[in-house]
Amino acid sequence: MSATIEDIAVKANVSVSTVSRVLNNVAGKYRISRDTQKLVLKTAKELKYQPNQLARGLRLKKTHTIGLIVPDISNPFFACITDTIQSAAHRVGYSIVVCNTDDKLELEVEHTQLLVSKGVDGLIVLPVGQGSDHFRRLRKENIPFVLVDRYFEDLDAHSVLIDNFKGSYEAVEHLISRGHVRIGLIEGLPGASTTRGRRAGYLAALASHGIPLDESLLRGQSFRKETGYTETKALLRTDNPPTAIFATNDLITLGALEAIYEKGLNIPEDVSLVAFDEIDFNPFLRCPLTTVIQPREEMGEMAVKILVESMAQKEQKVFRQIVLPPRLGEGRSVRFLEHAQSLSLTAT
Ligand code: RIB
Repeated sequence: MSATIEDIAVKANVSVSTVSRVLNNVAGKYRISRDTQKLVLKTAKELKYQPNQLARGLRLKKTHTIGLIVPDISNPFFACITDTIQSAAHRVGYSIVVCNTDDKLELEVEHTQLLVSKGVDGLIVLPVGQGSDHFRRLRKENIPFVLVDRYFEDLDAHSVLIDNFKGSYEAVEHLISRGHVRIGLIEGLPGASTTRGRRAGYLAALASHGIPLDESLLRGQSFRKETGYTETKALLRTDNPPTAIFATNDLITLGALEAIYEKGLNIPEDVSLVAFDEIDFNPFLRCPLTTVIQPREEMGEMAVKILVESMAQKEQKVFRQIVLPPRLGEGRSVRFLEHAQSLSLTAT
């Protein structure tokens, strides 16, 4: 079998993208030294490299542009990941085109088709998470893409995720260990894998401590601030309000804070609060929150790395699923309830 650009890269001890740029006569654009260019060409000759005409045709059409699709660019979580992806892509010679879907599947489908029609070399998608047919079409057209944050159990695709179950379980167990047994859960977009994982972690933590589920404590249907505000108000006006609320993303948390302070309550004296995603200005809040911290930068860097490797392959055959661990950052927003010692807190 004839040598590939990966073989040249290994033998010449340079990156695949450097080999690709030298062979496609764009070395000058990326300021690749004359010595490196000569080394690559010499190695290609030694290995009797014969460019695959189809792949070369596709390479020649390279735009060195990556499409990035996110559900809500105004959300600090997605803004941070977008910033990381842009920087990482630029370091390896790619520009990005960003499309925002406002958590709407139809917009995600439209933007995916638009970016492909504009000839992007690959896509990174933080999906809405409520439909995957358009990703199957990308697969059929052999267009490289990587999913980040949310995924689809029935779609084999490169994906960079976190362990939402673990993050949620640890957050709820942290509350239980401090005596909370009535814990409100404010959830995000129905059907998204992040919503499913966080609910599963909440339910498992209650069950492992023998705490019965009160369905009335499960609320929410979007990752928006309004959801946090309205659902927190609803939880606090019940006859038997929760002693703690688990807000499953940054913006829900902001809405919960607004509702709690508007009611004249204090955190954690009157109600405890645990967040998810880690708001950047958390340390400066009047009560820094205990929160599940996602490795956002690592997720963005990993997504670019996997996509660049995938774009260098002629055909997508093997797909990598990376699941990174979140970690619980302890703030001052969880009160230790007096009767905590009396609770049987060993797992059942
Ligand atoms: O903030 C938006 C939420 O949706 C984040 O928690 C992220 O995980 C995404 O799924």
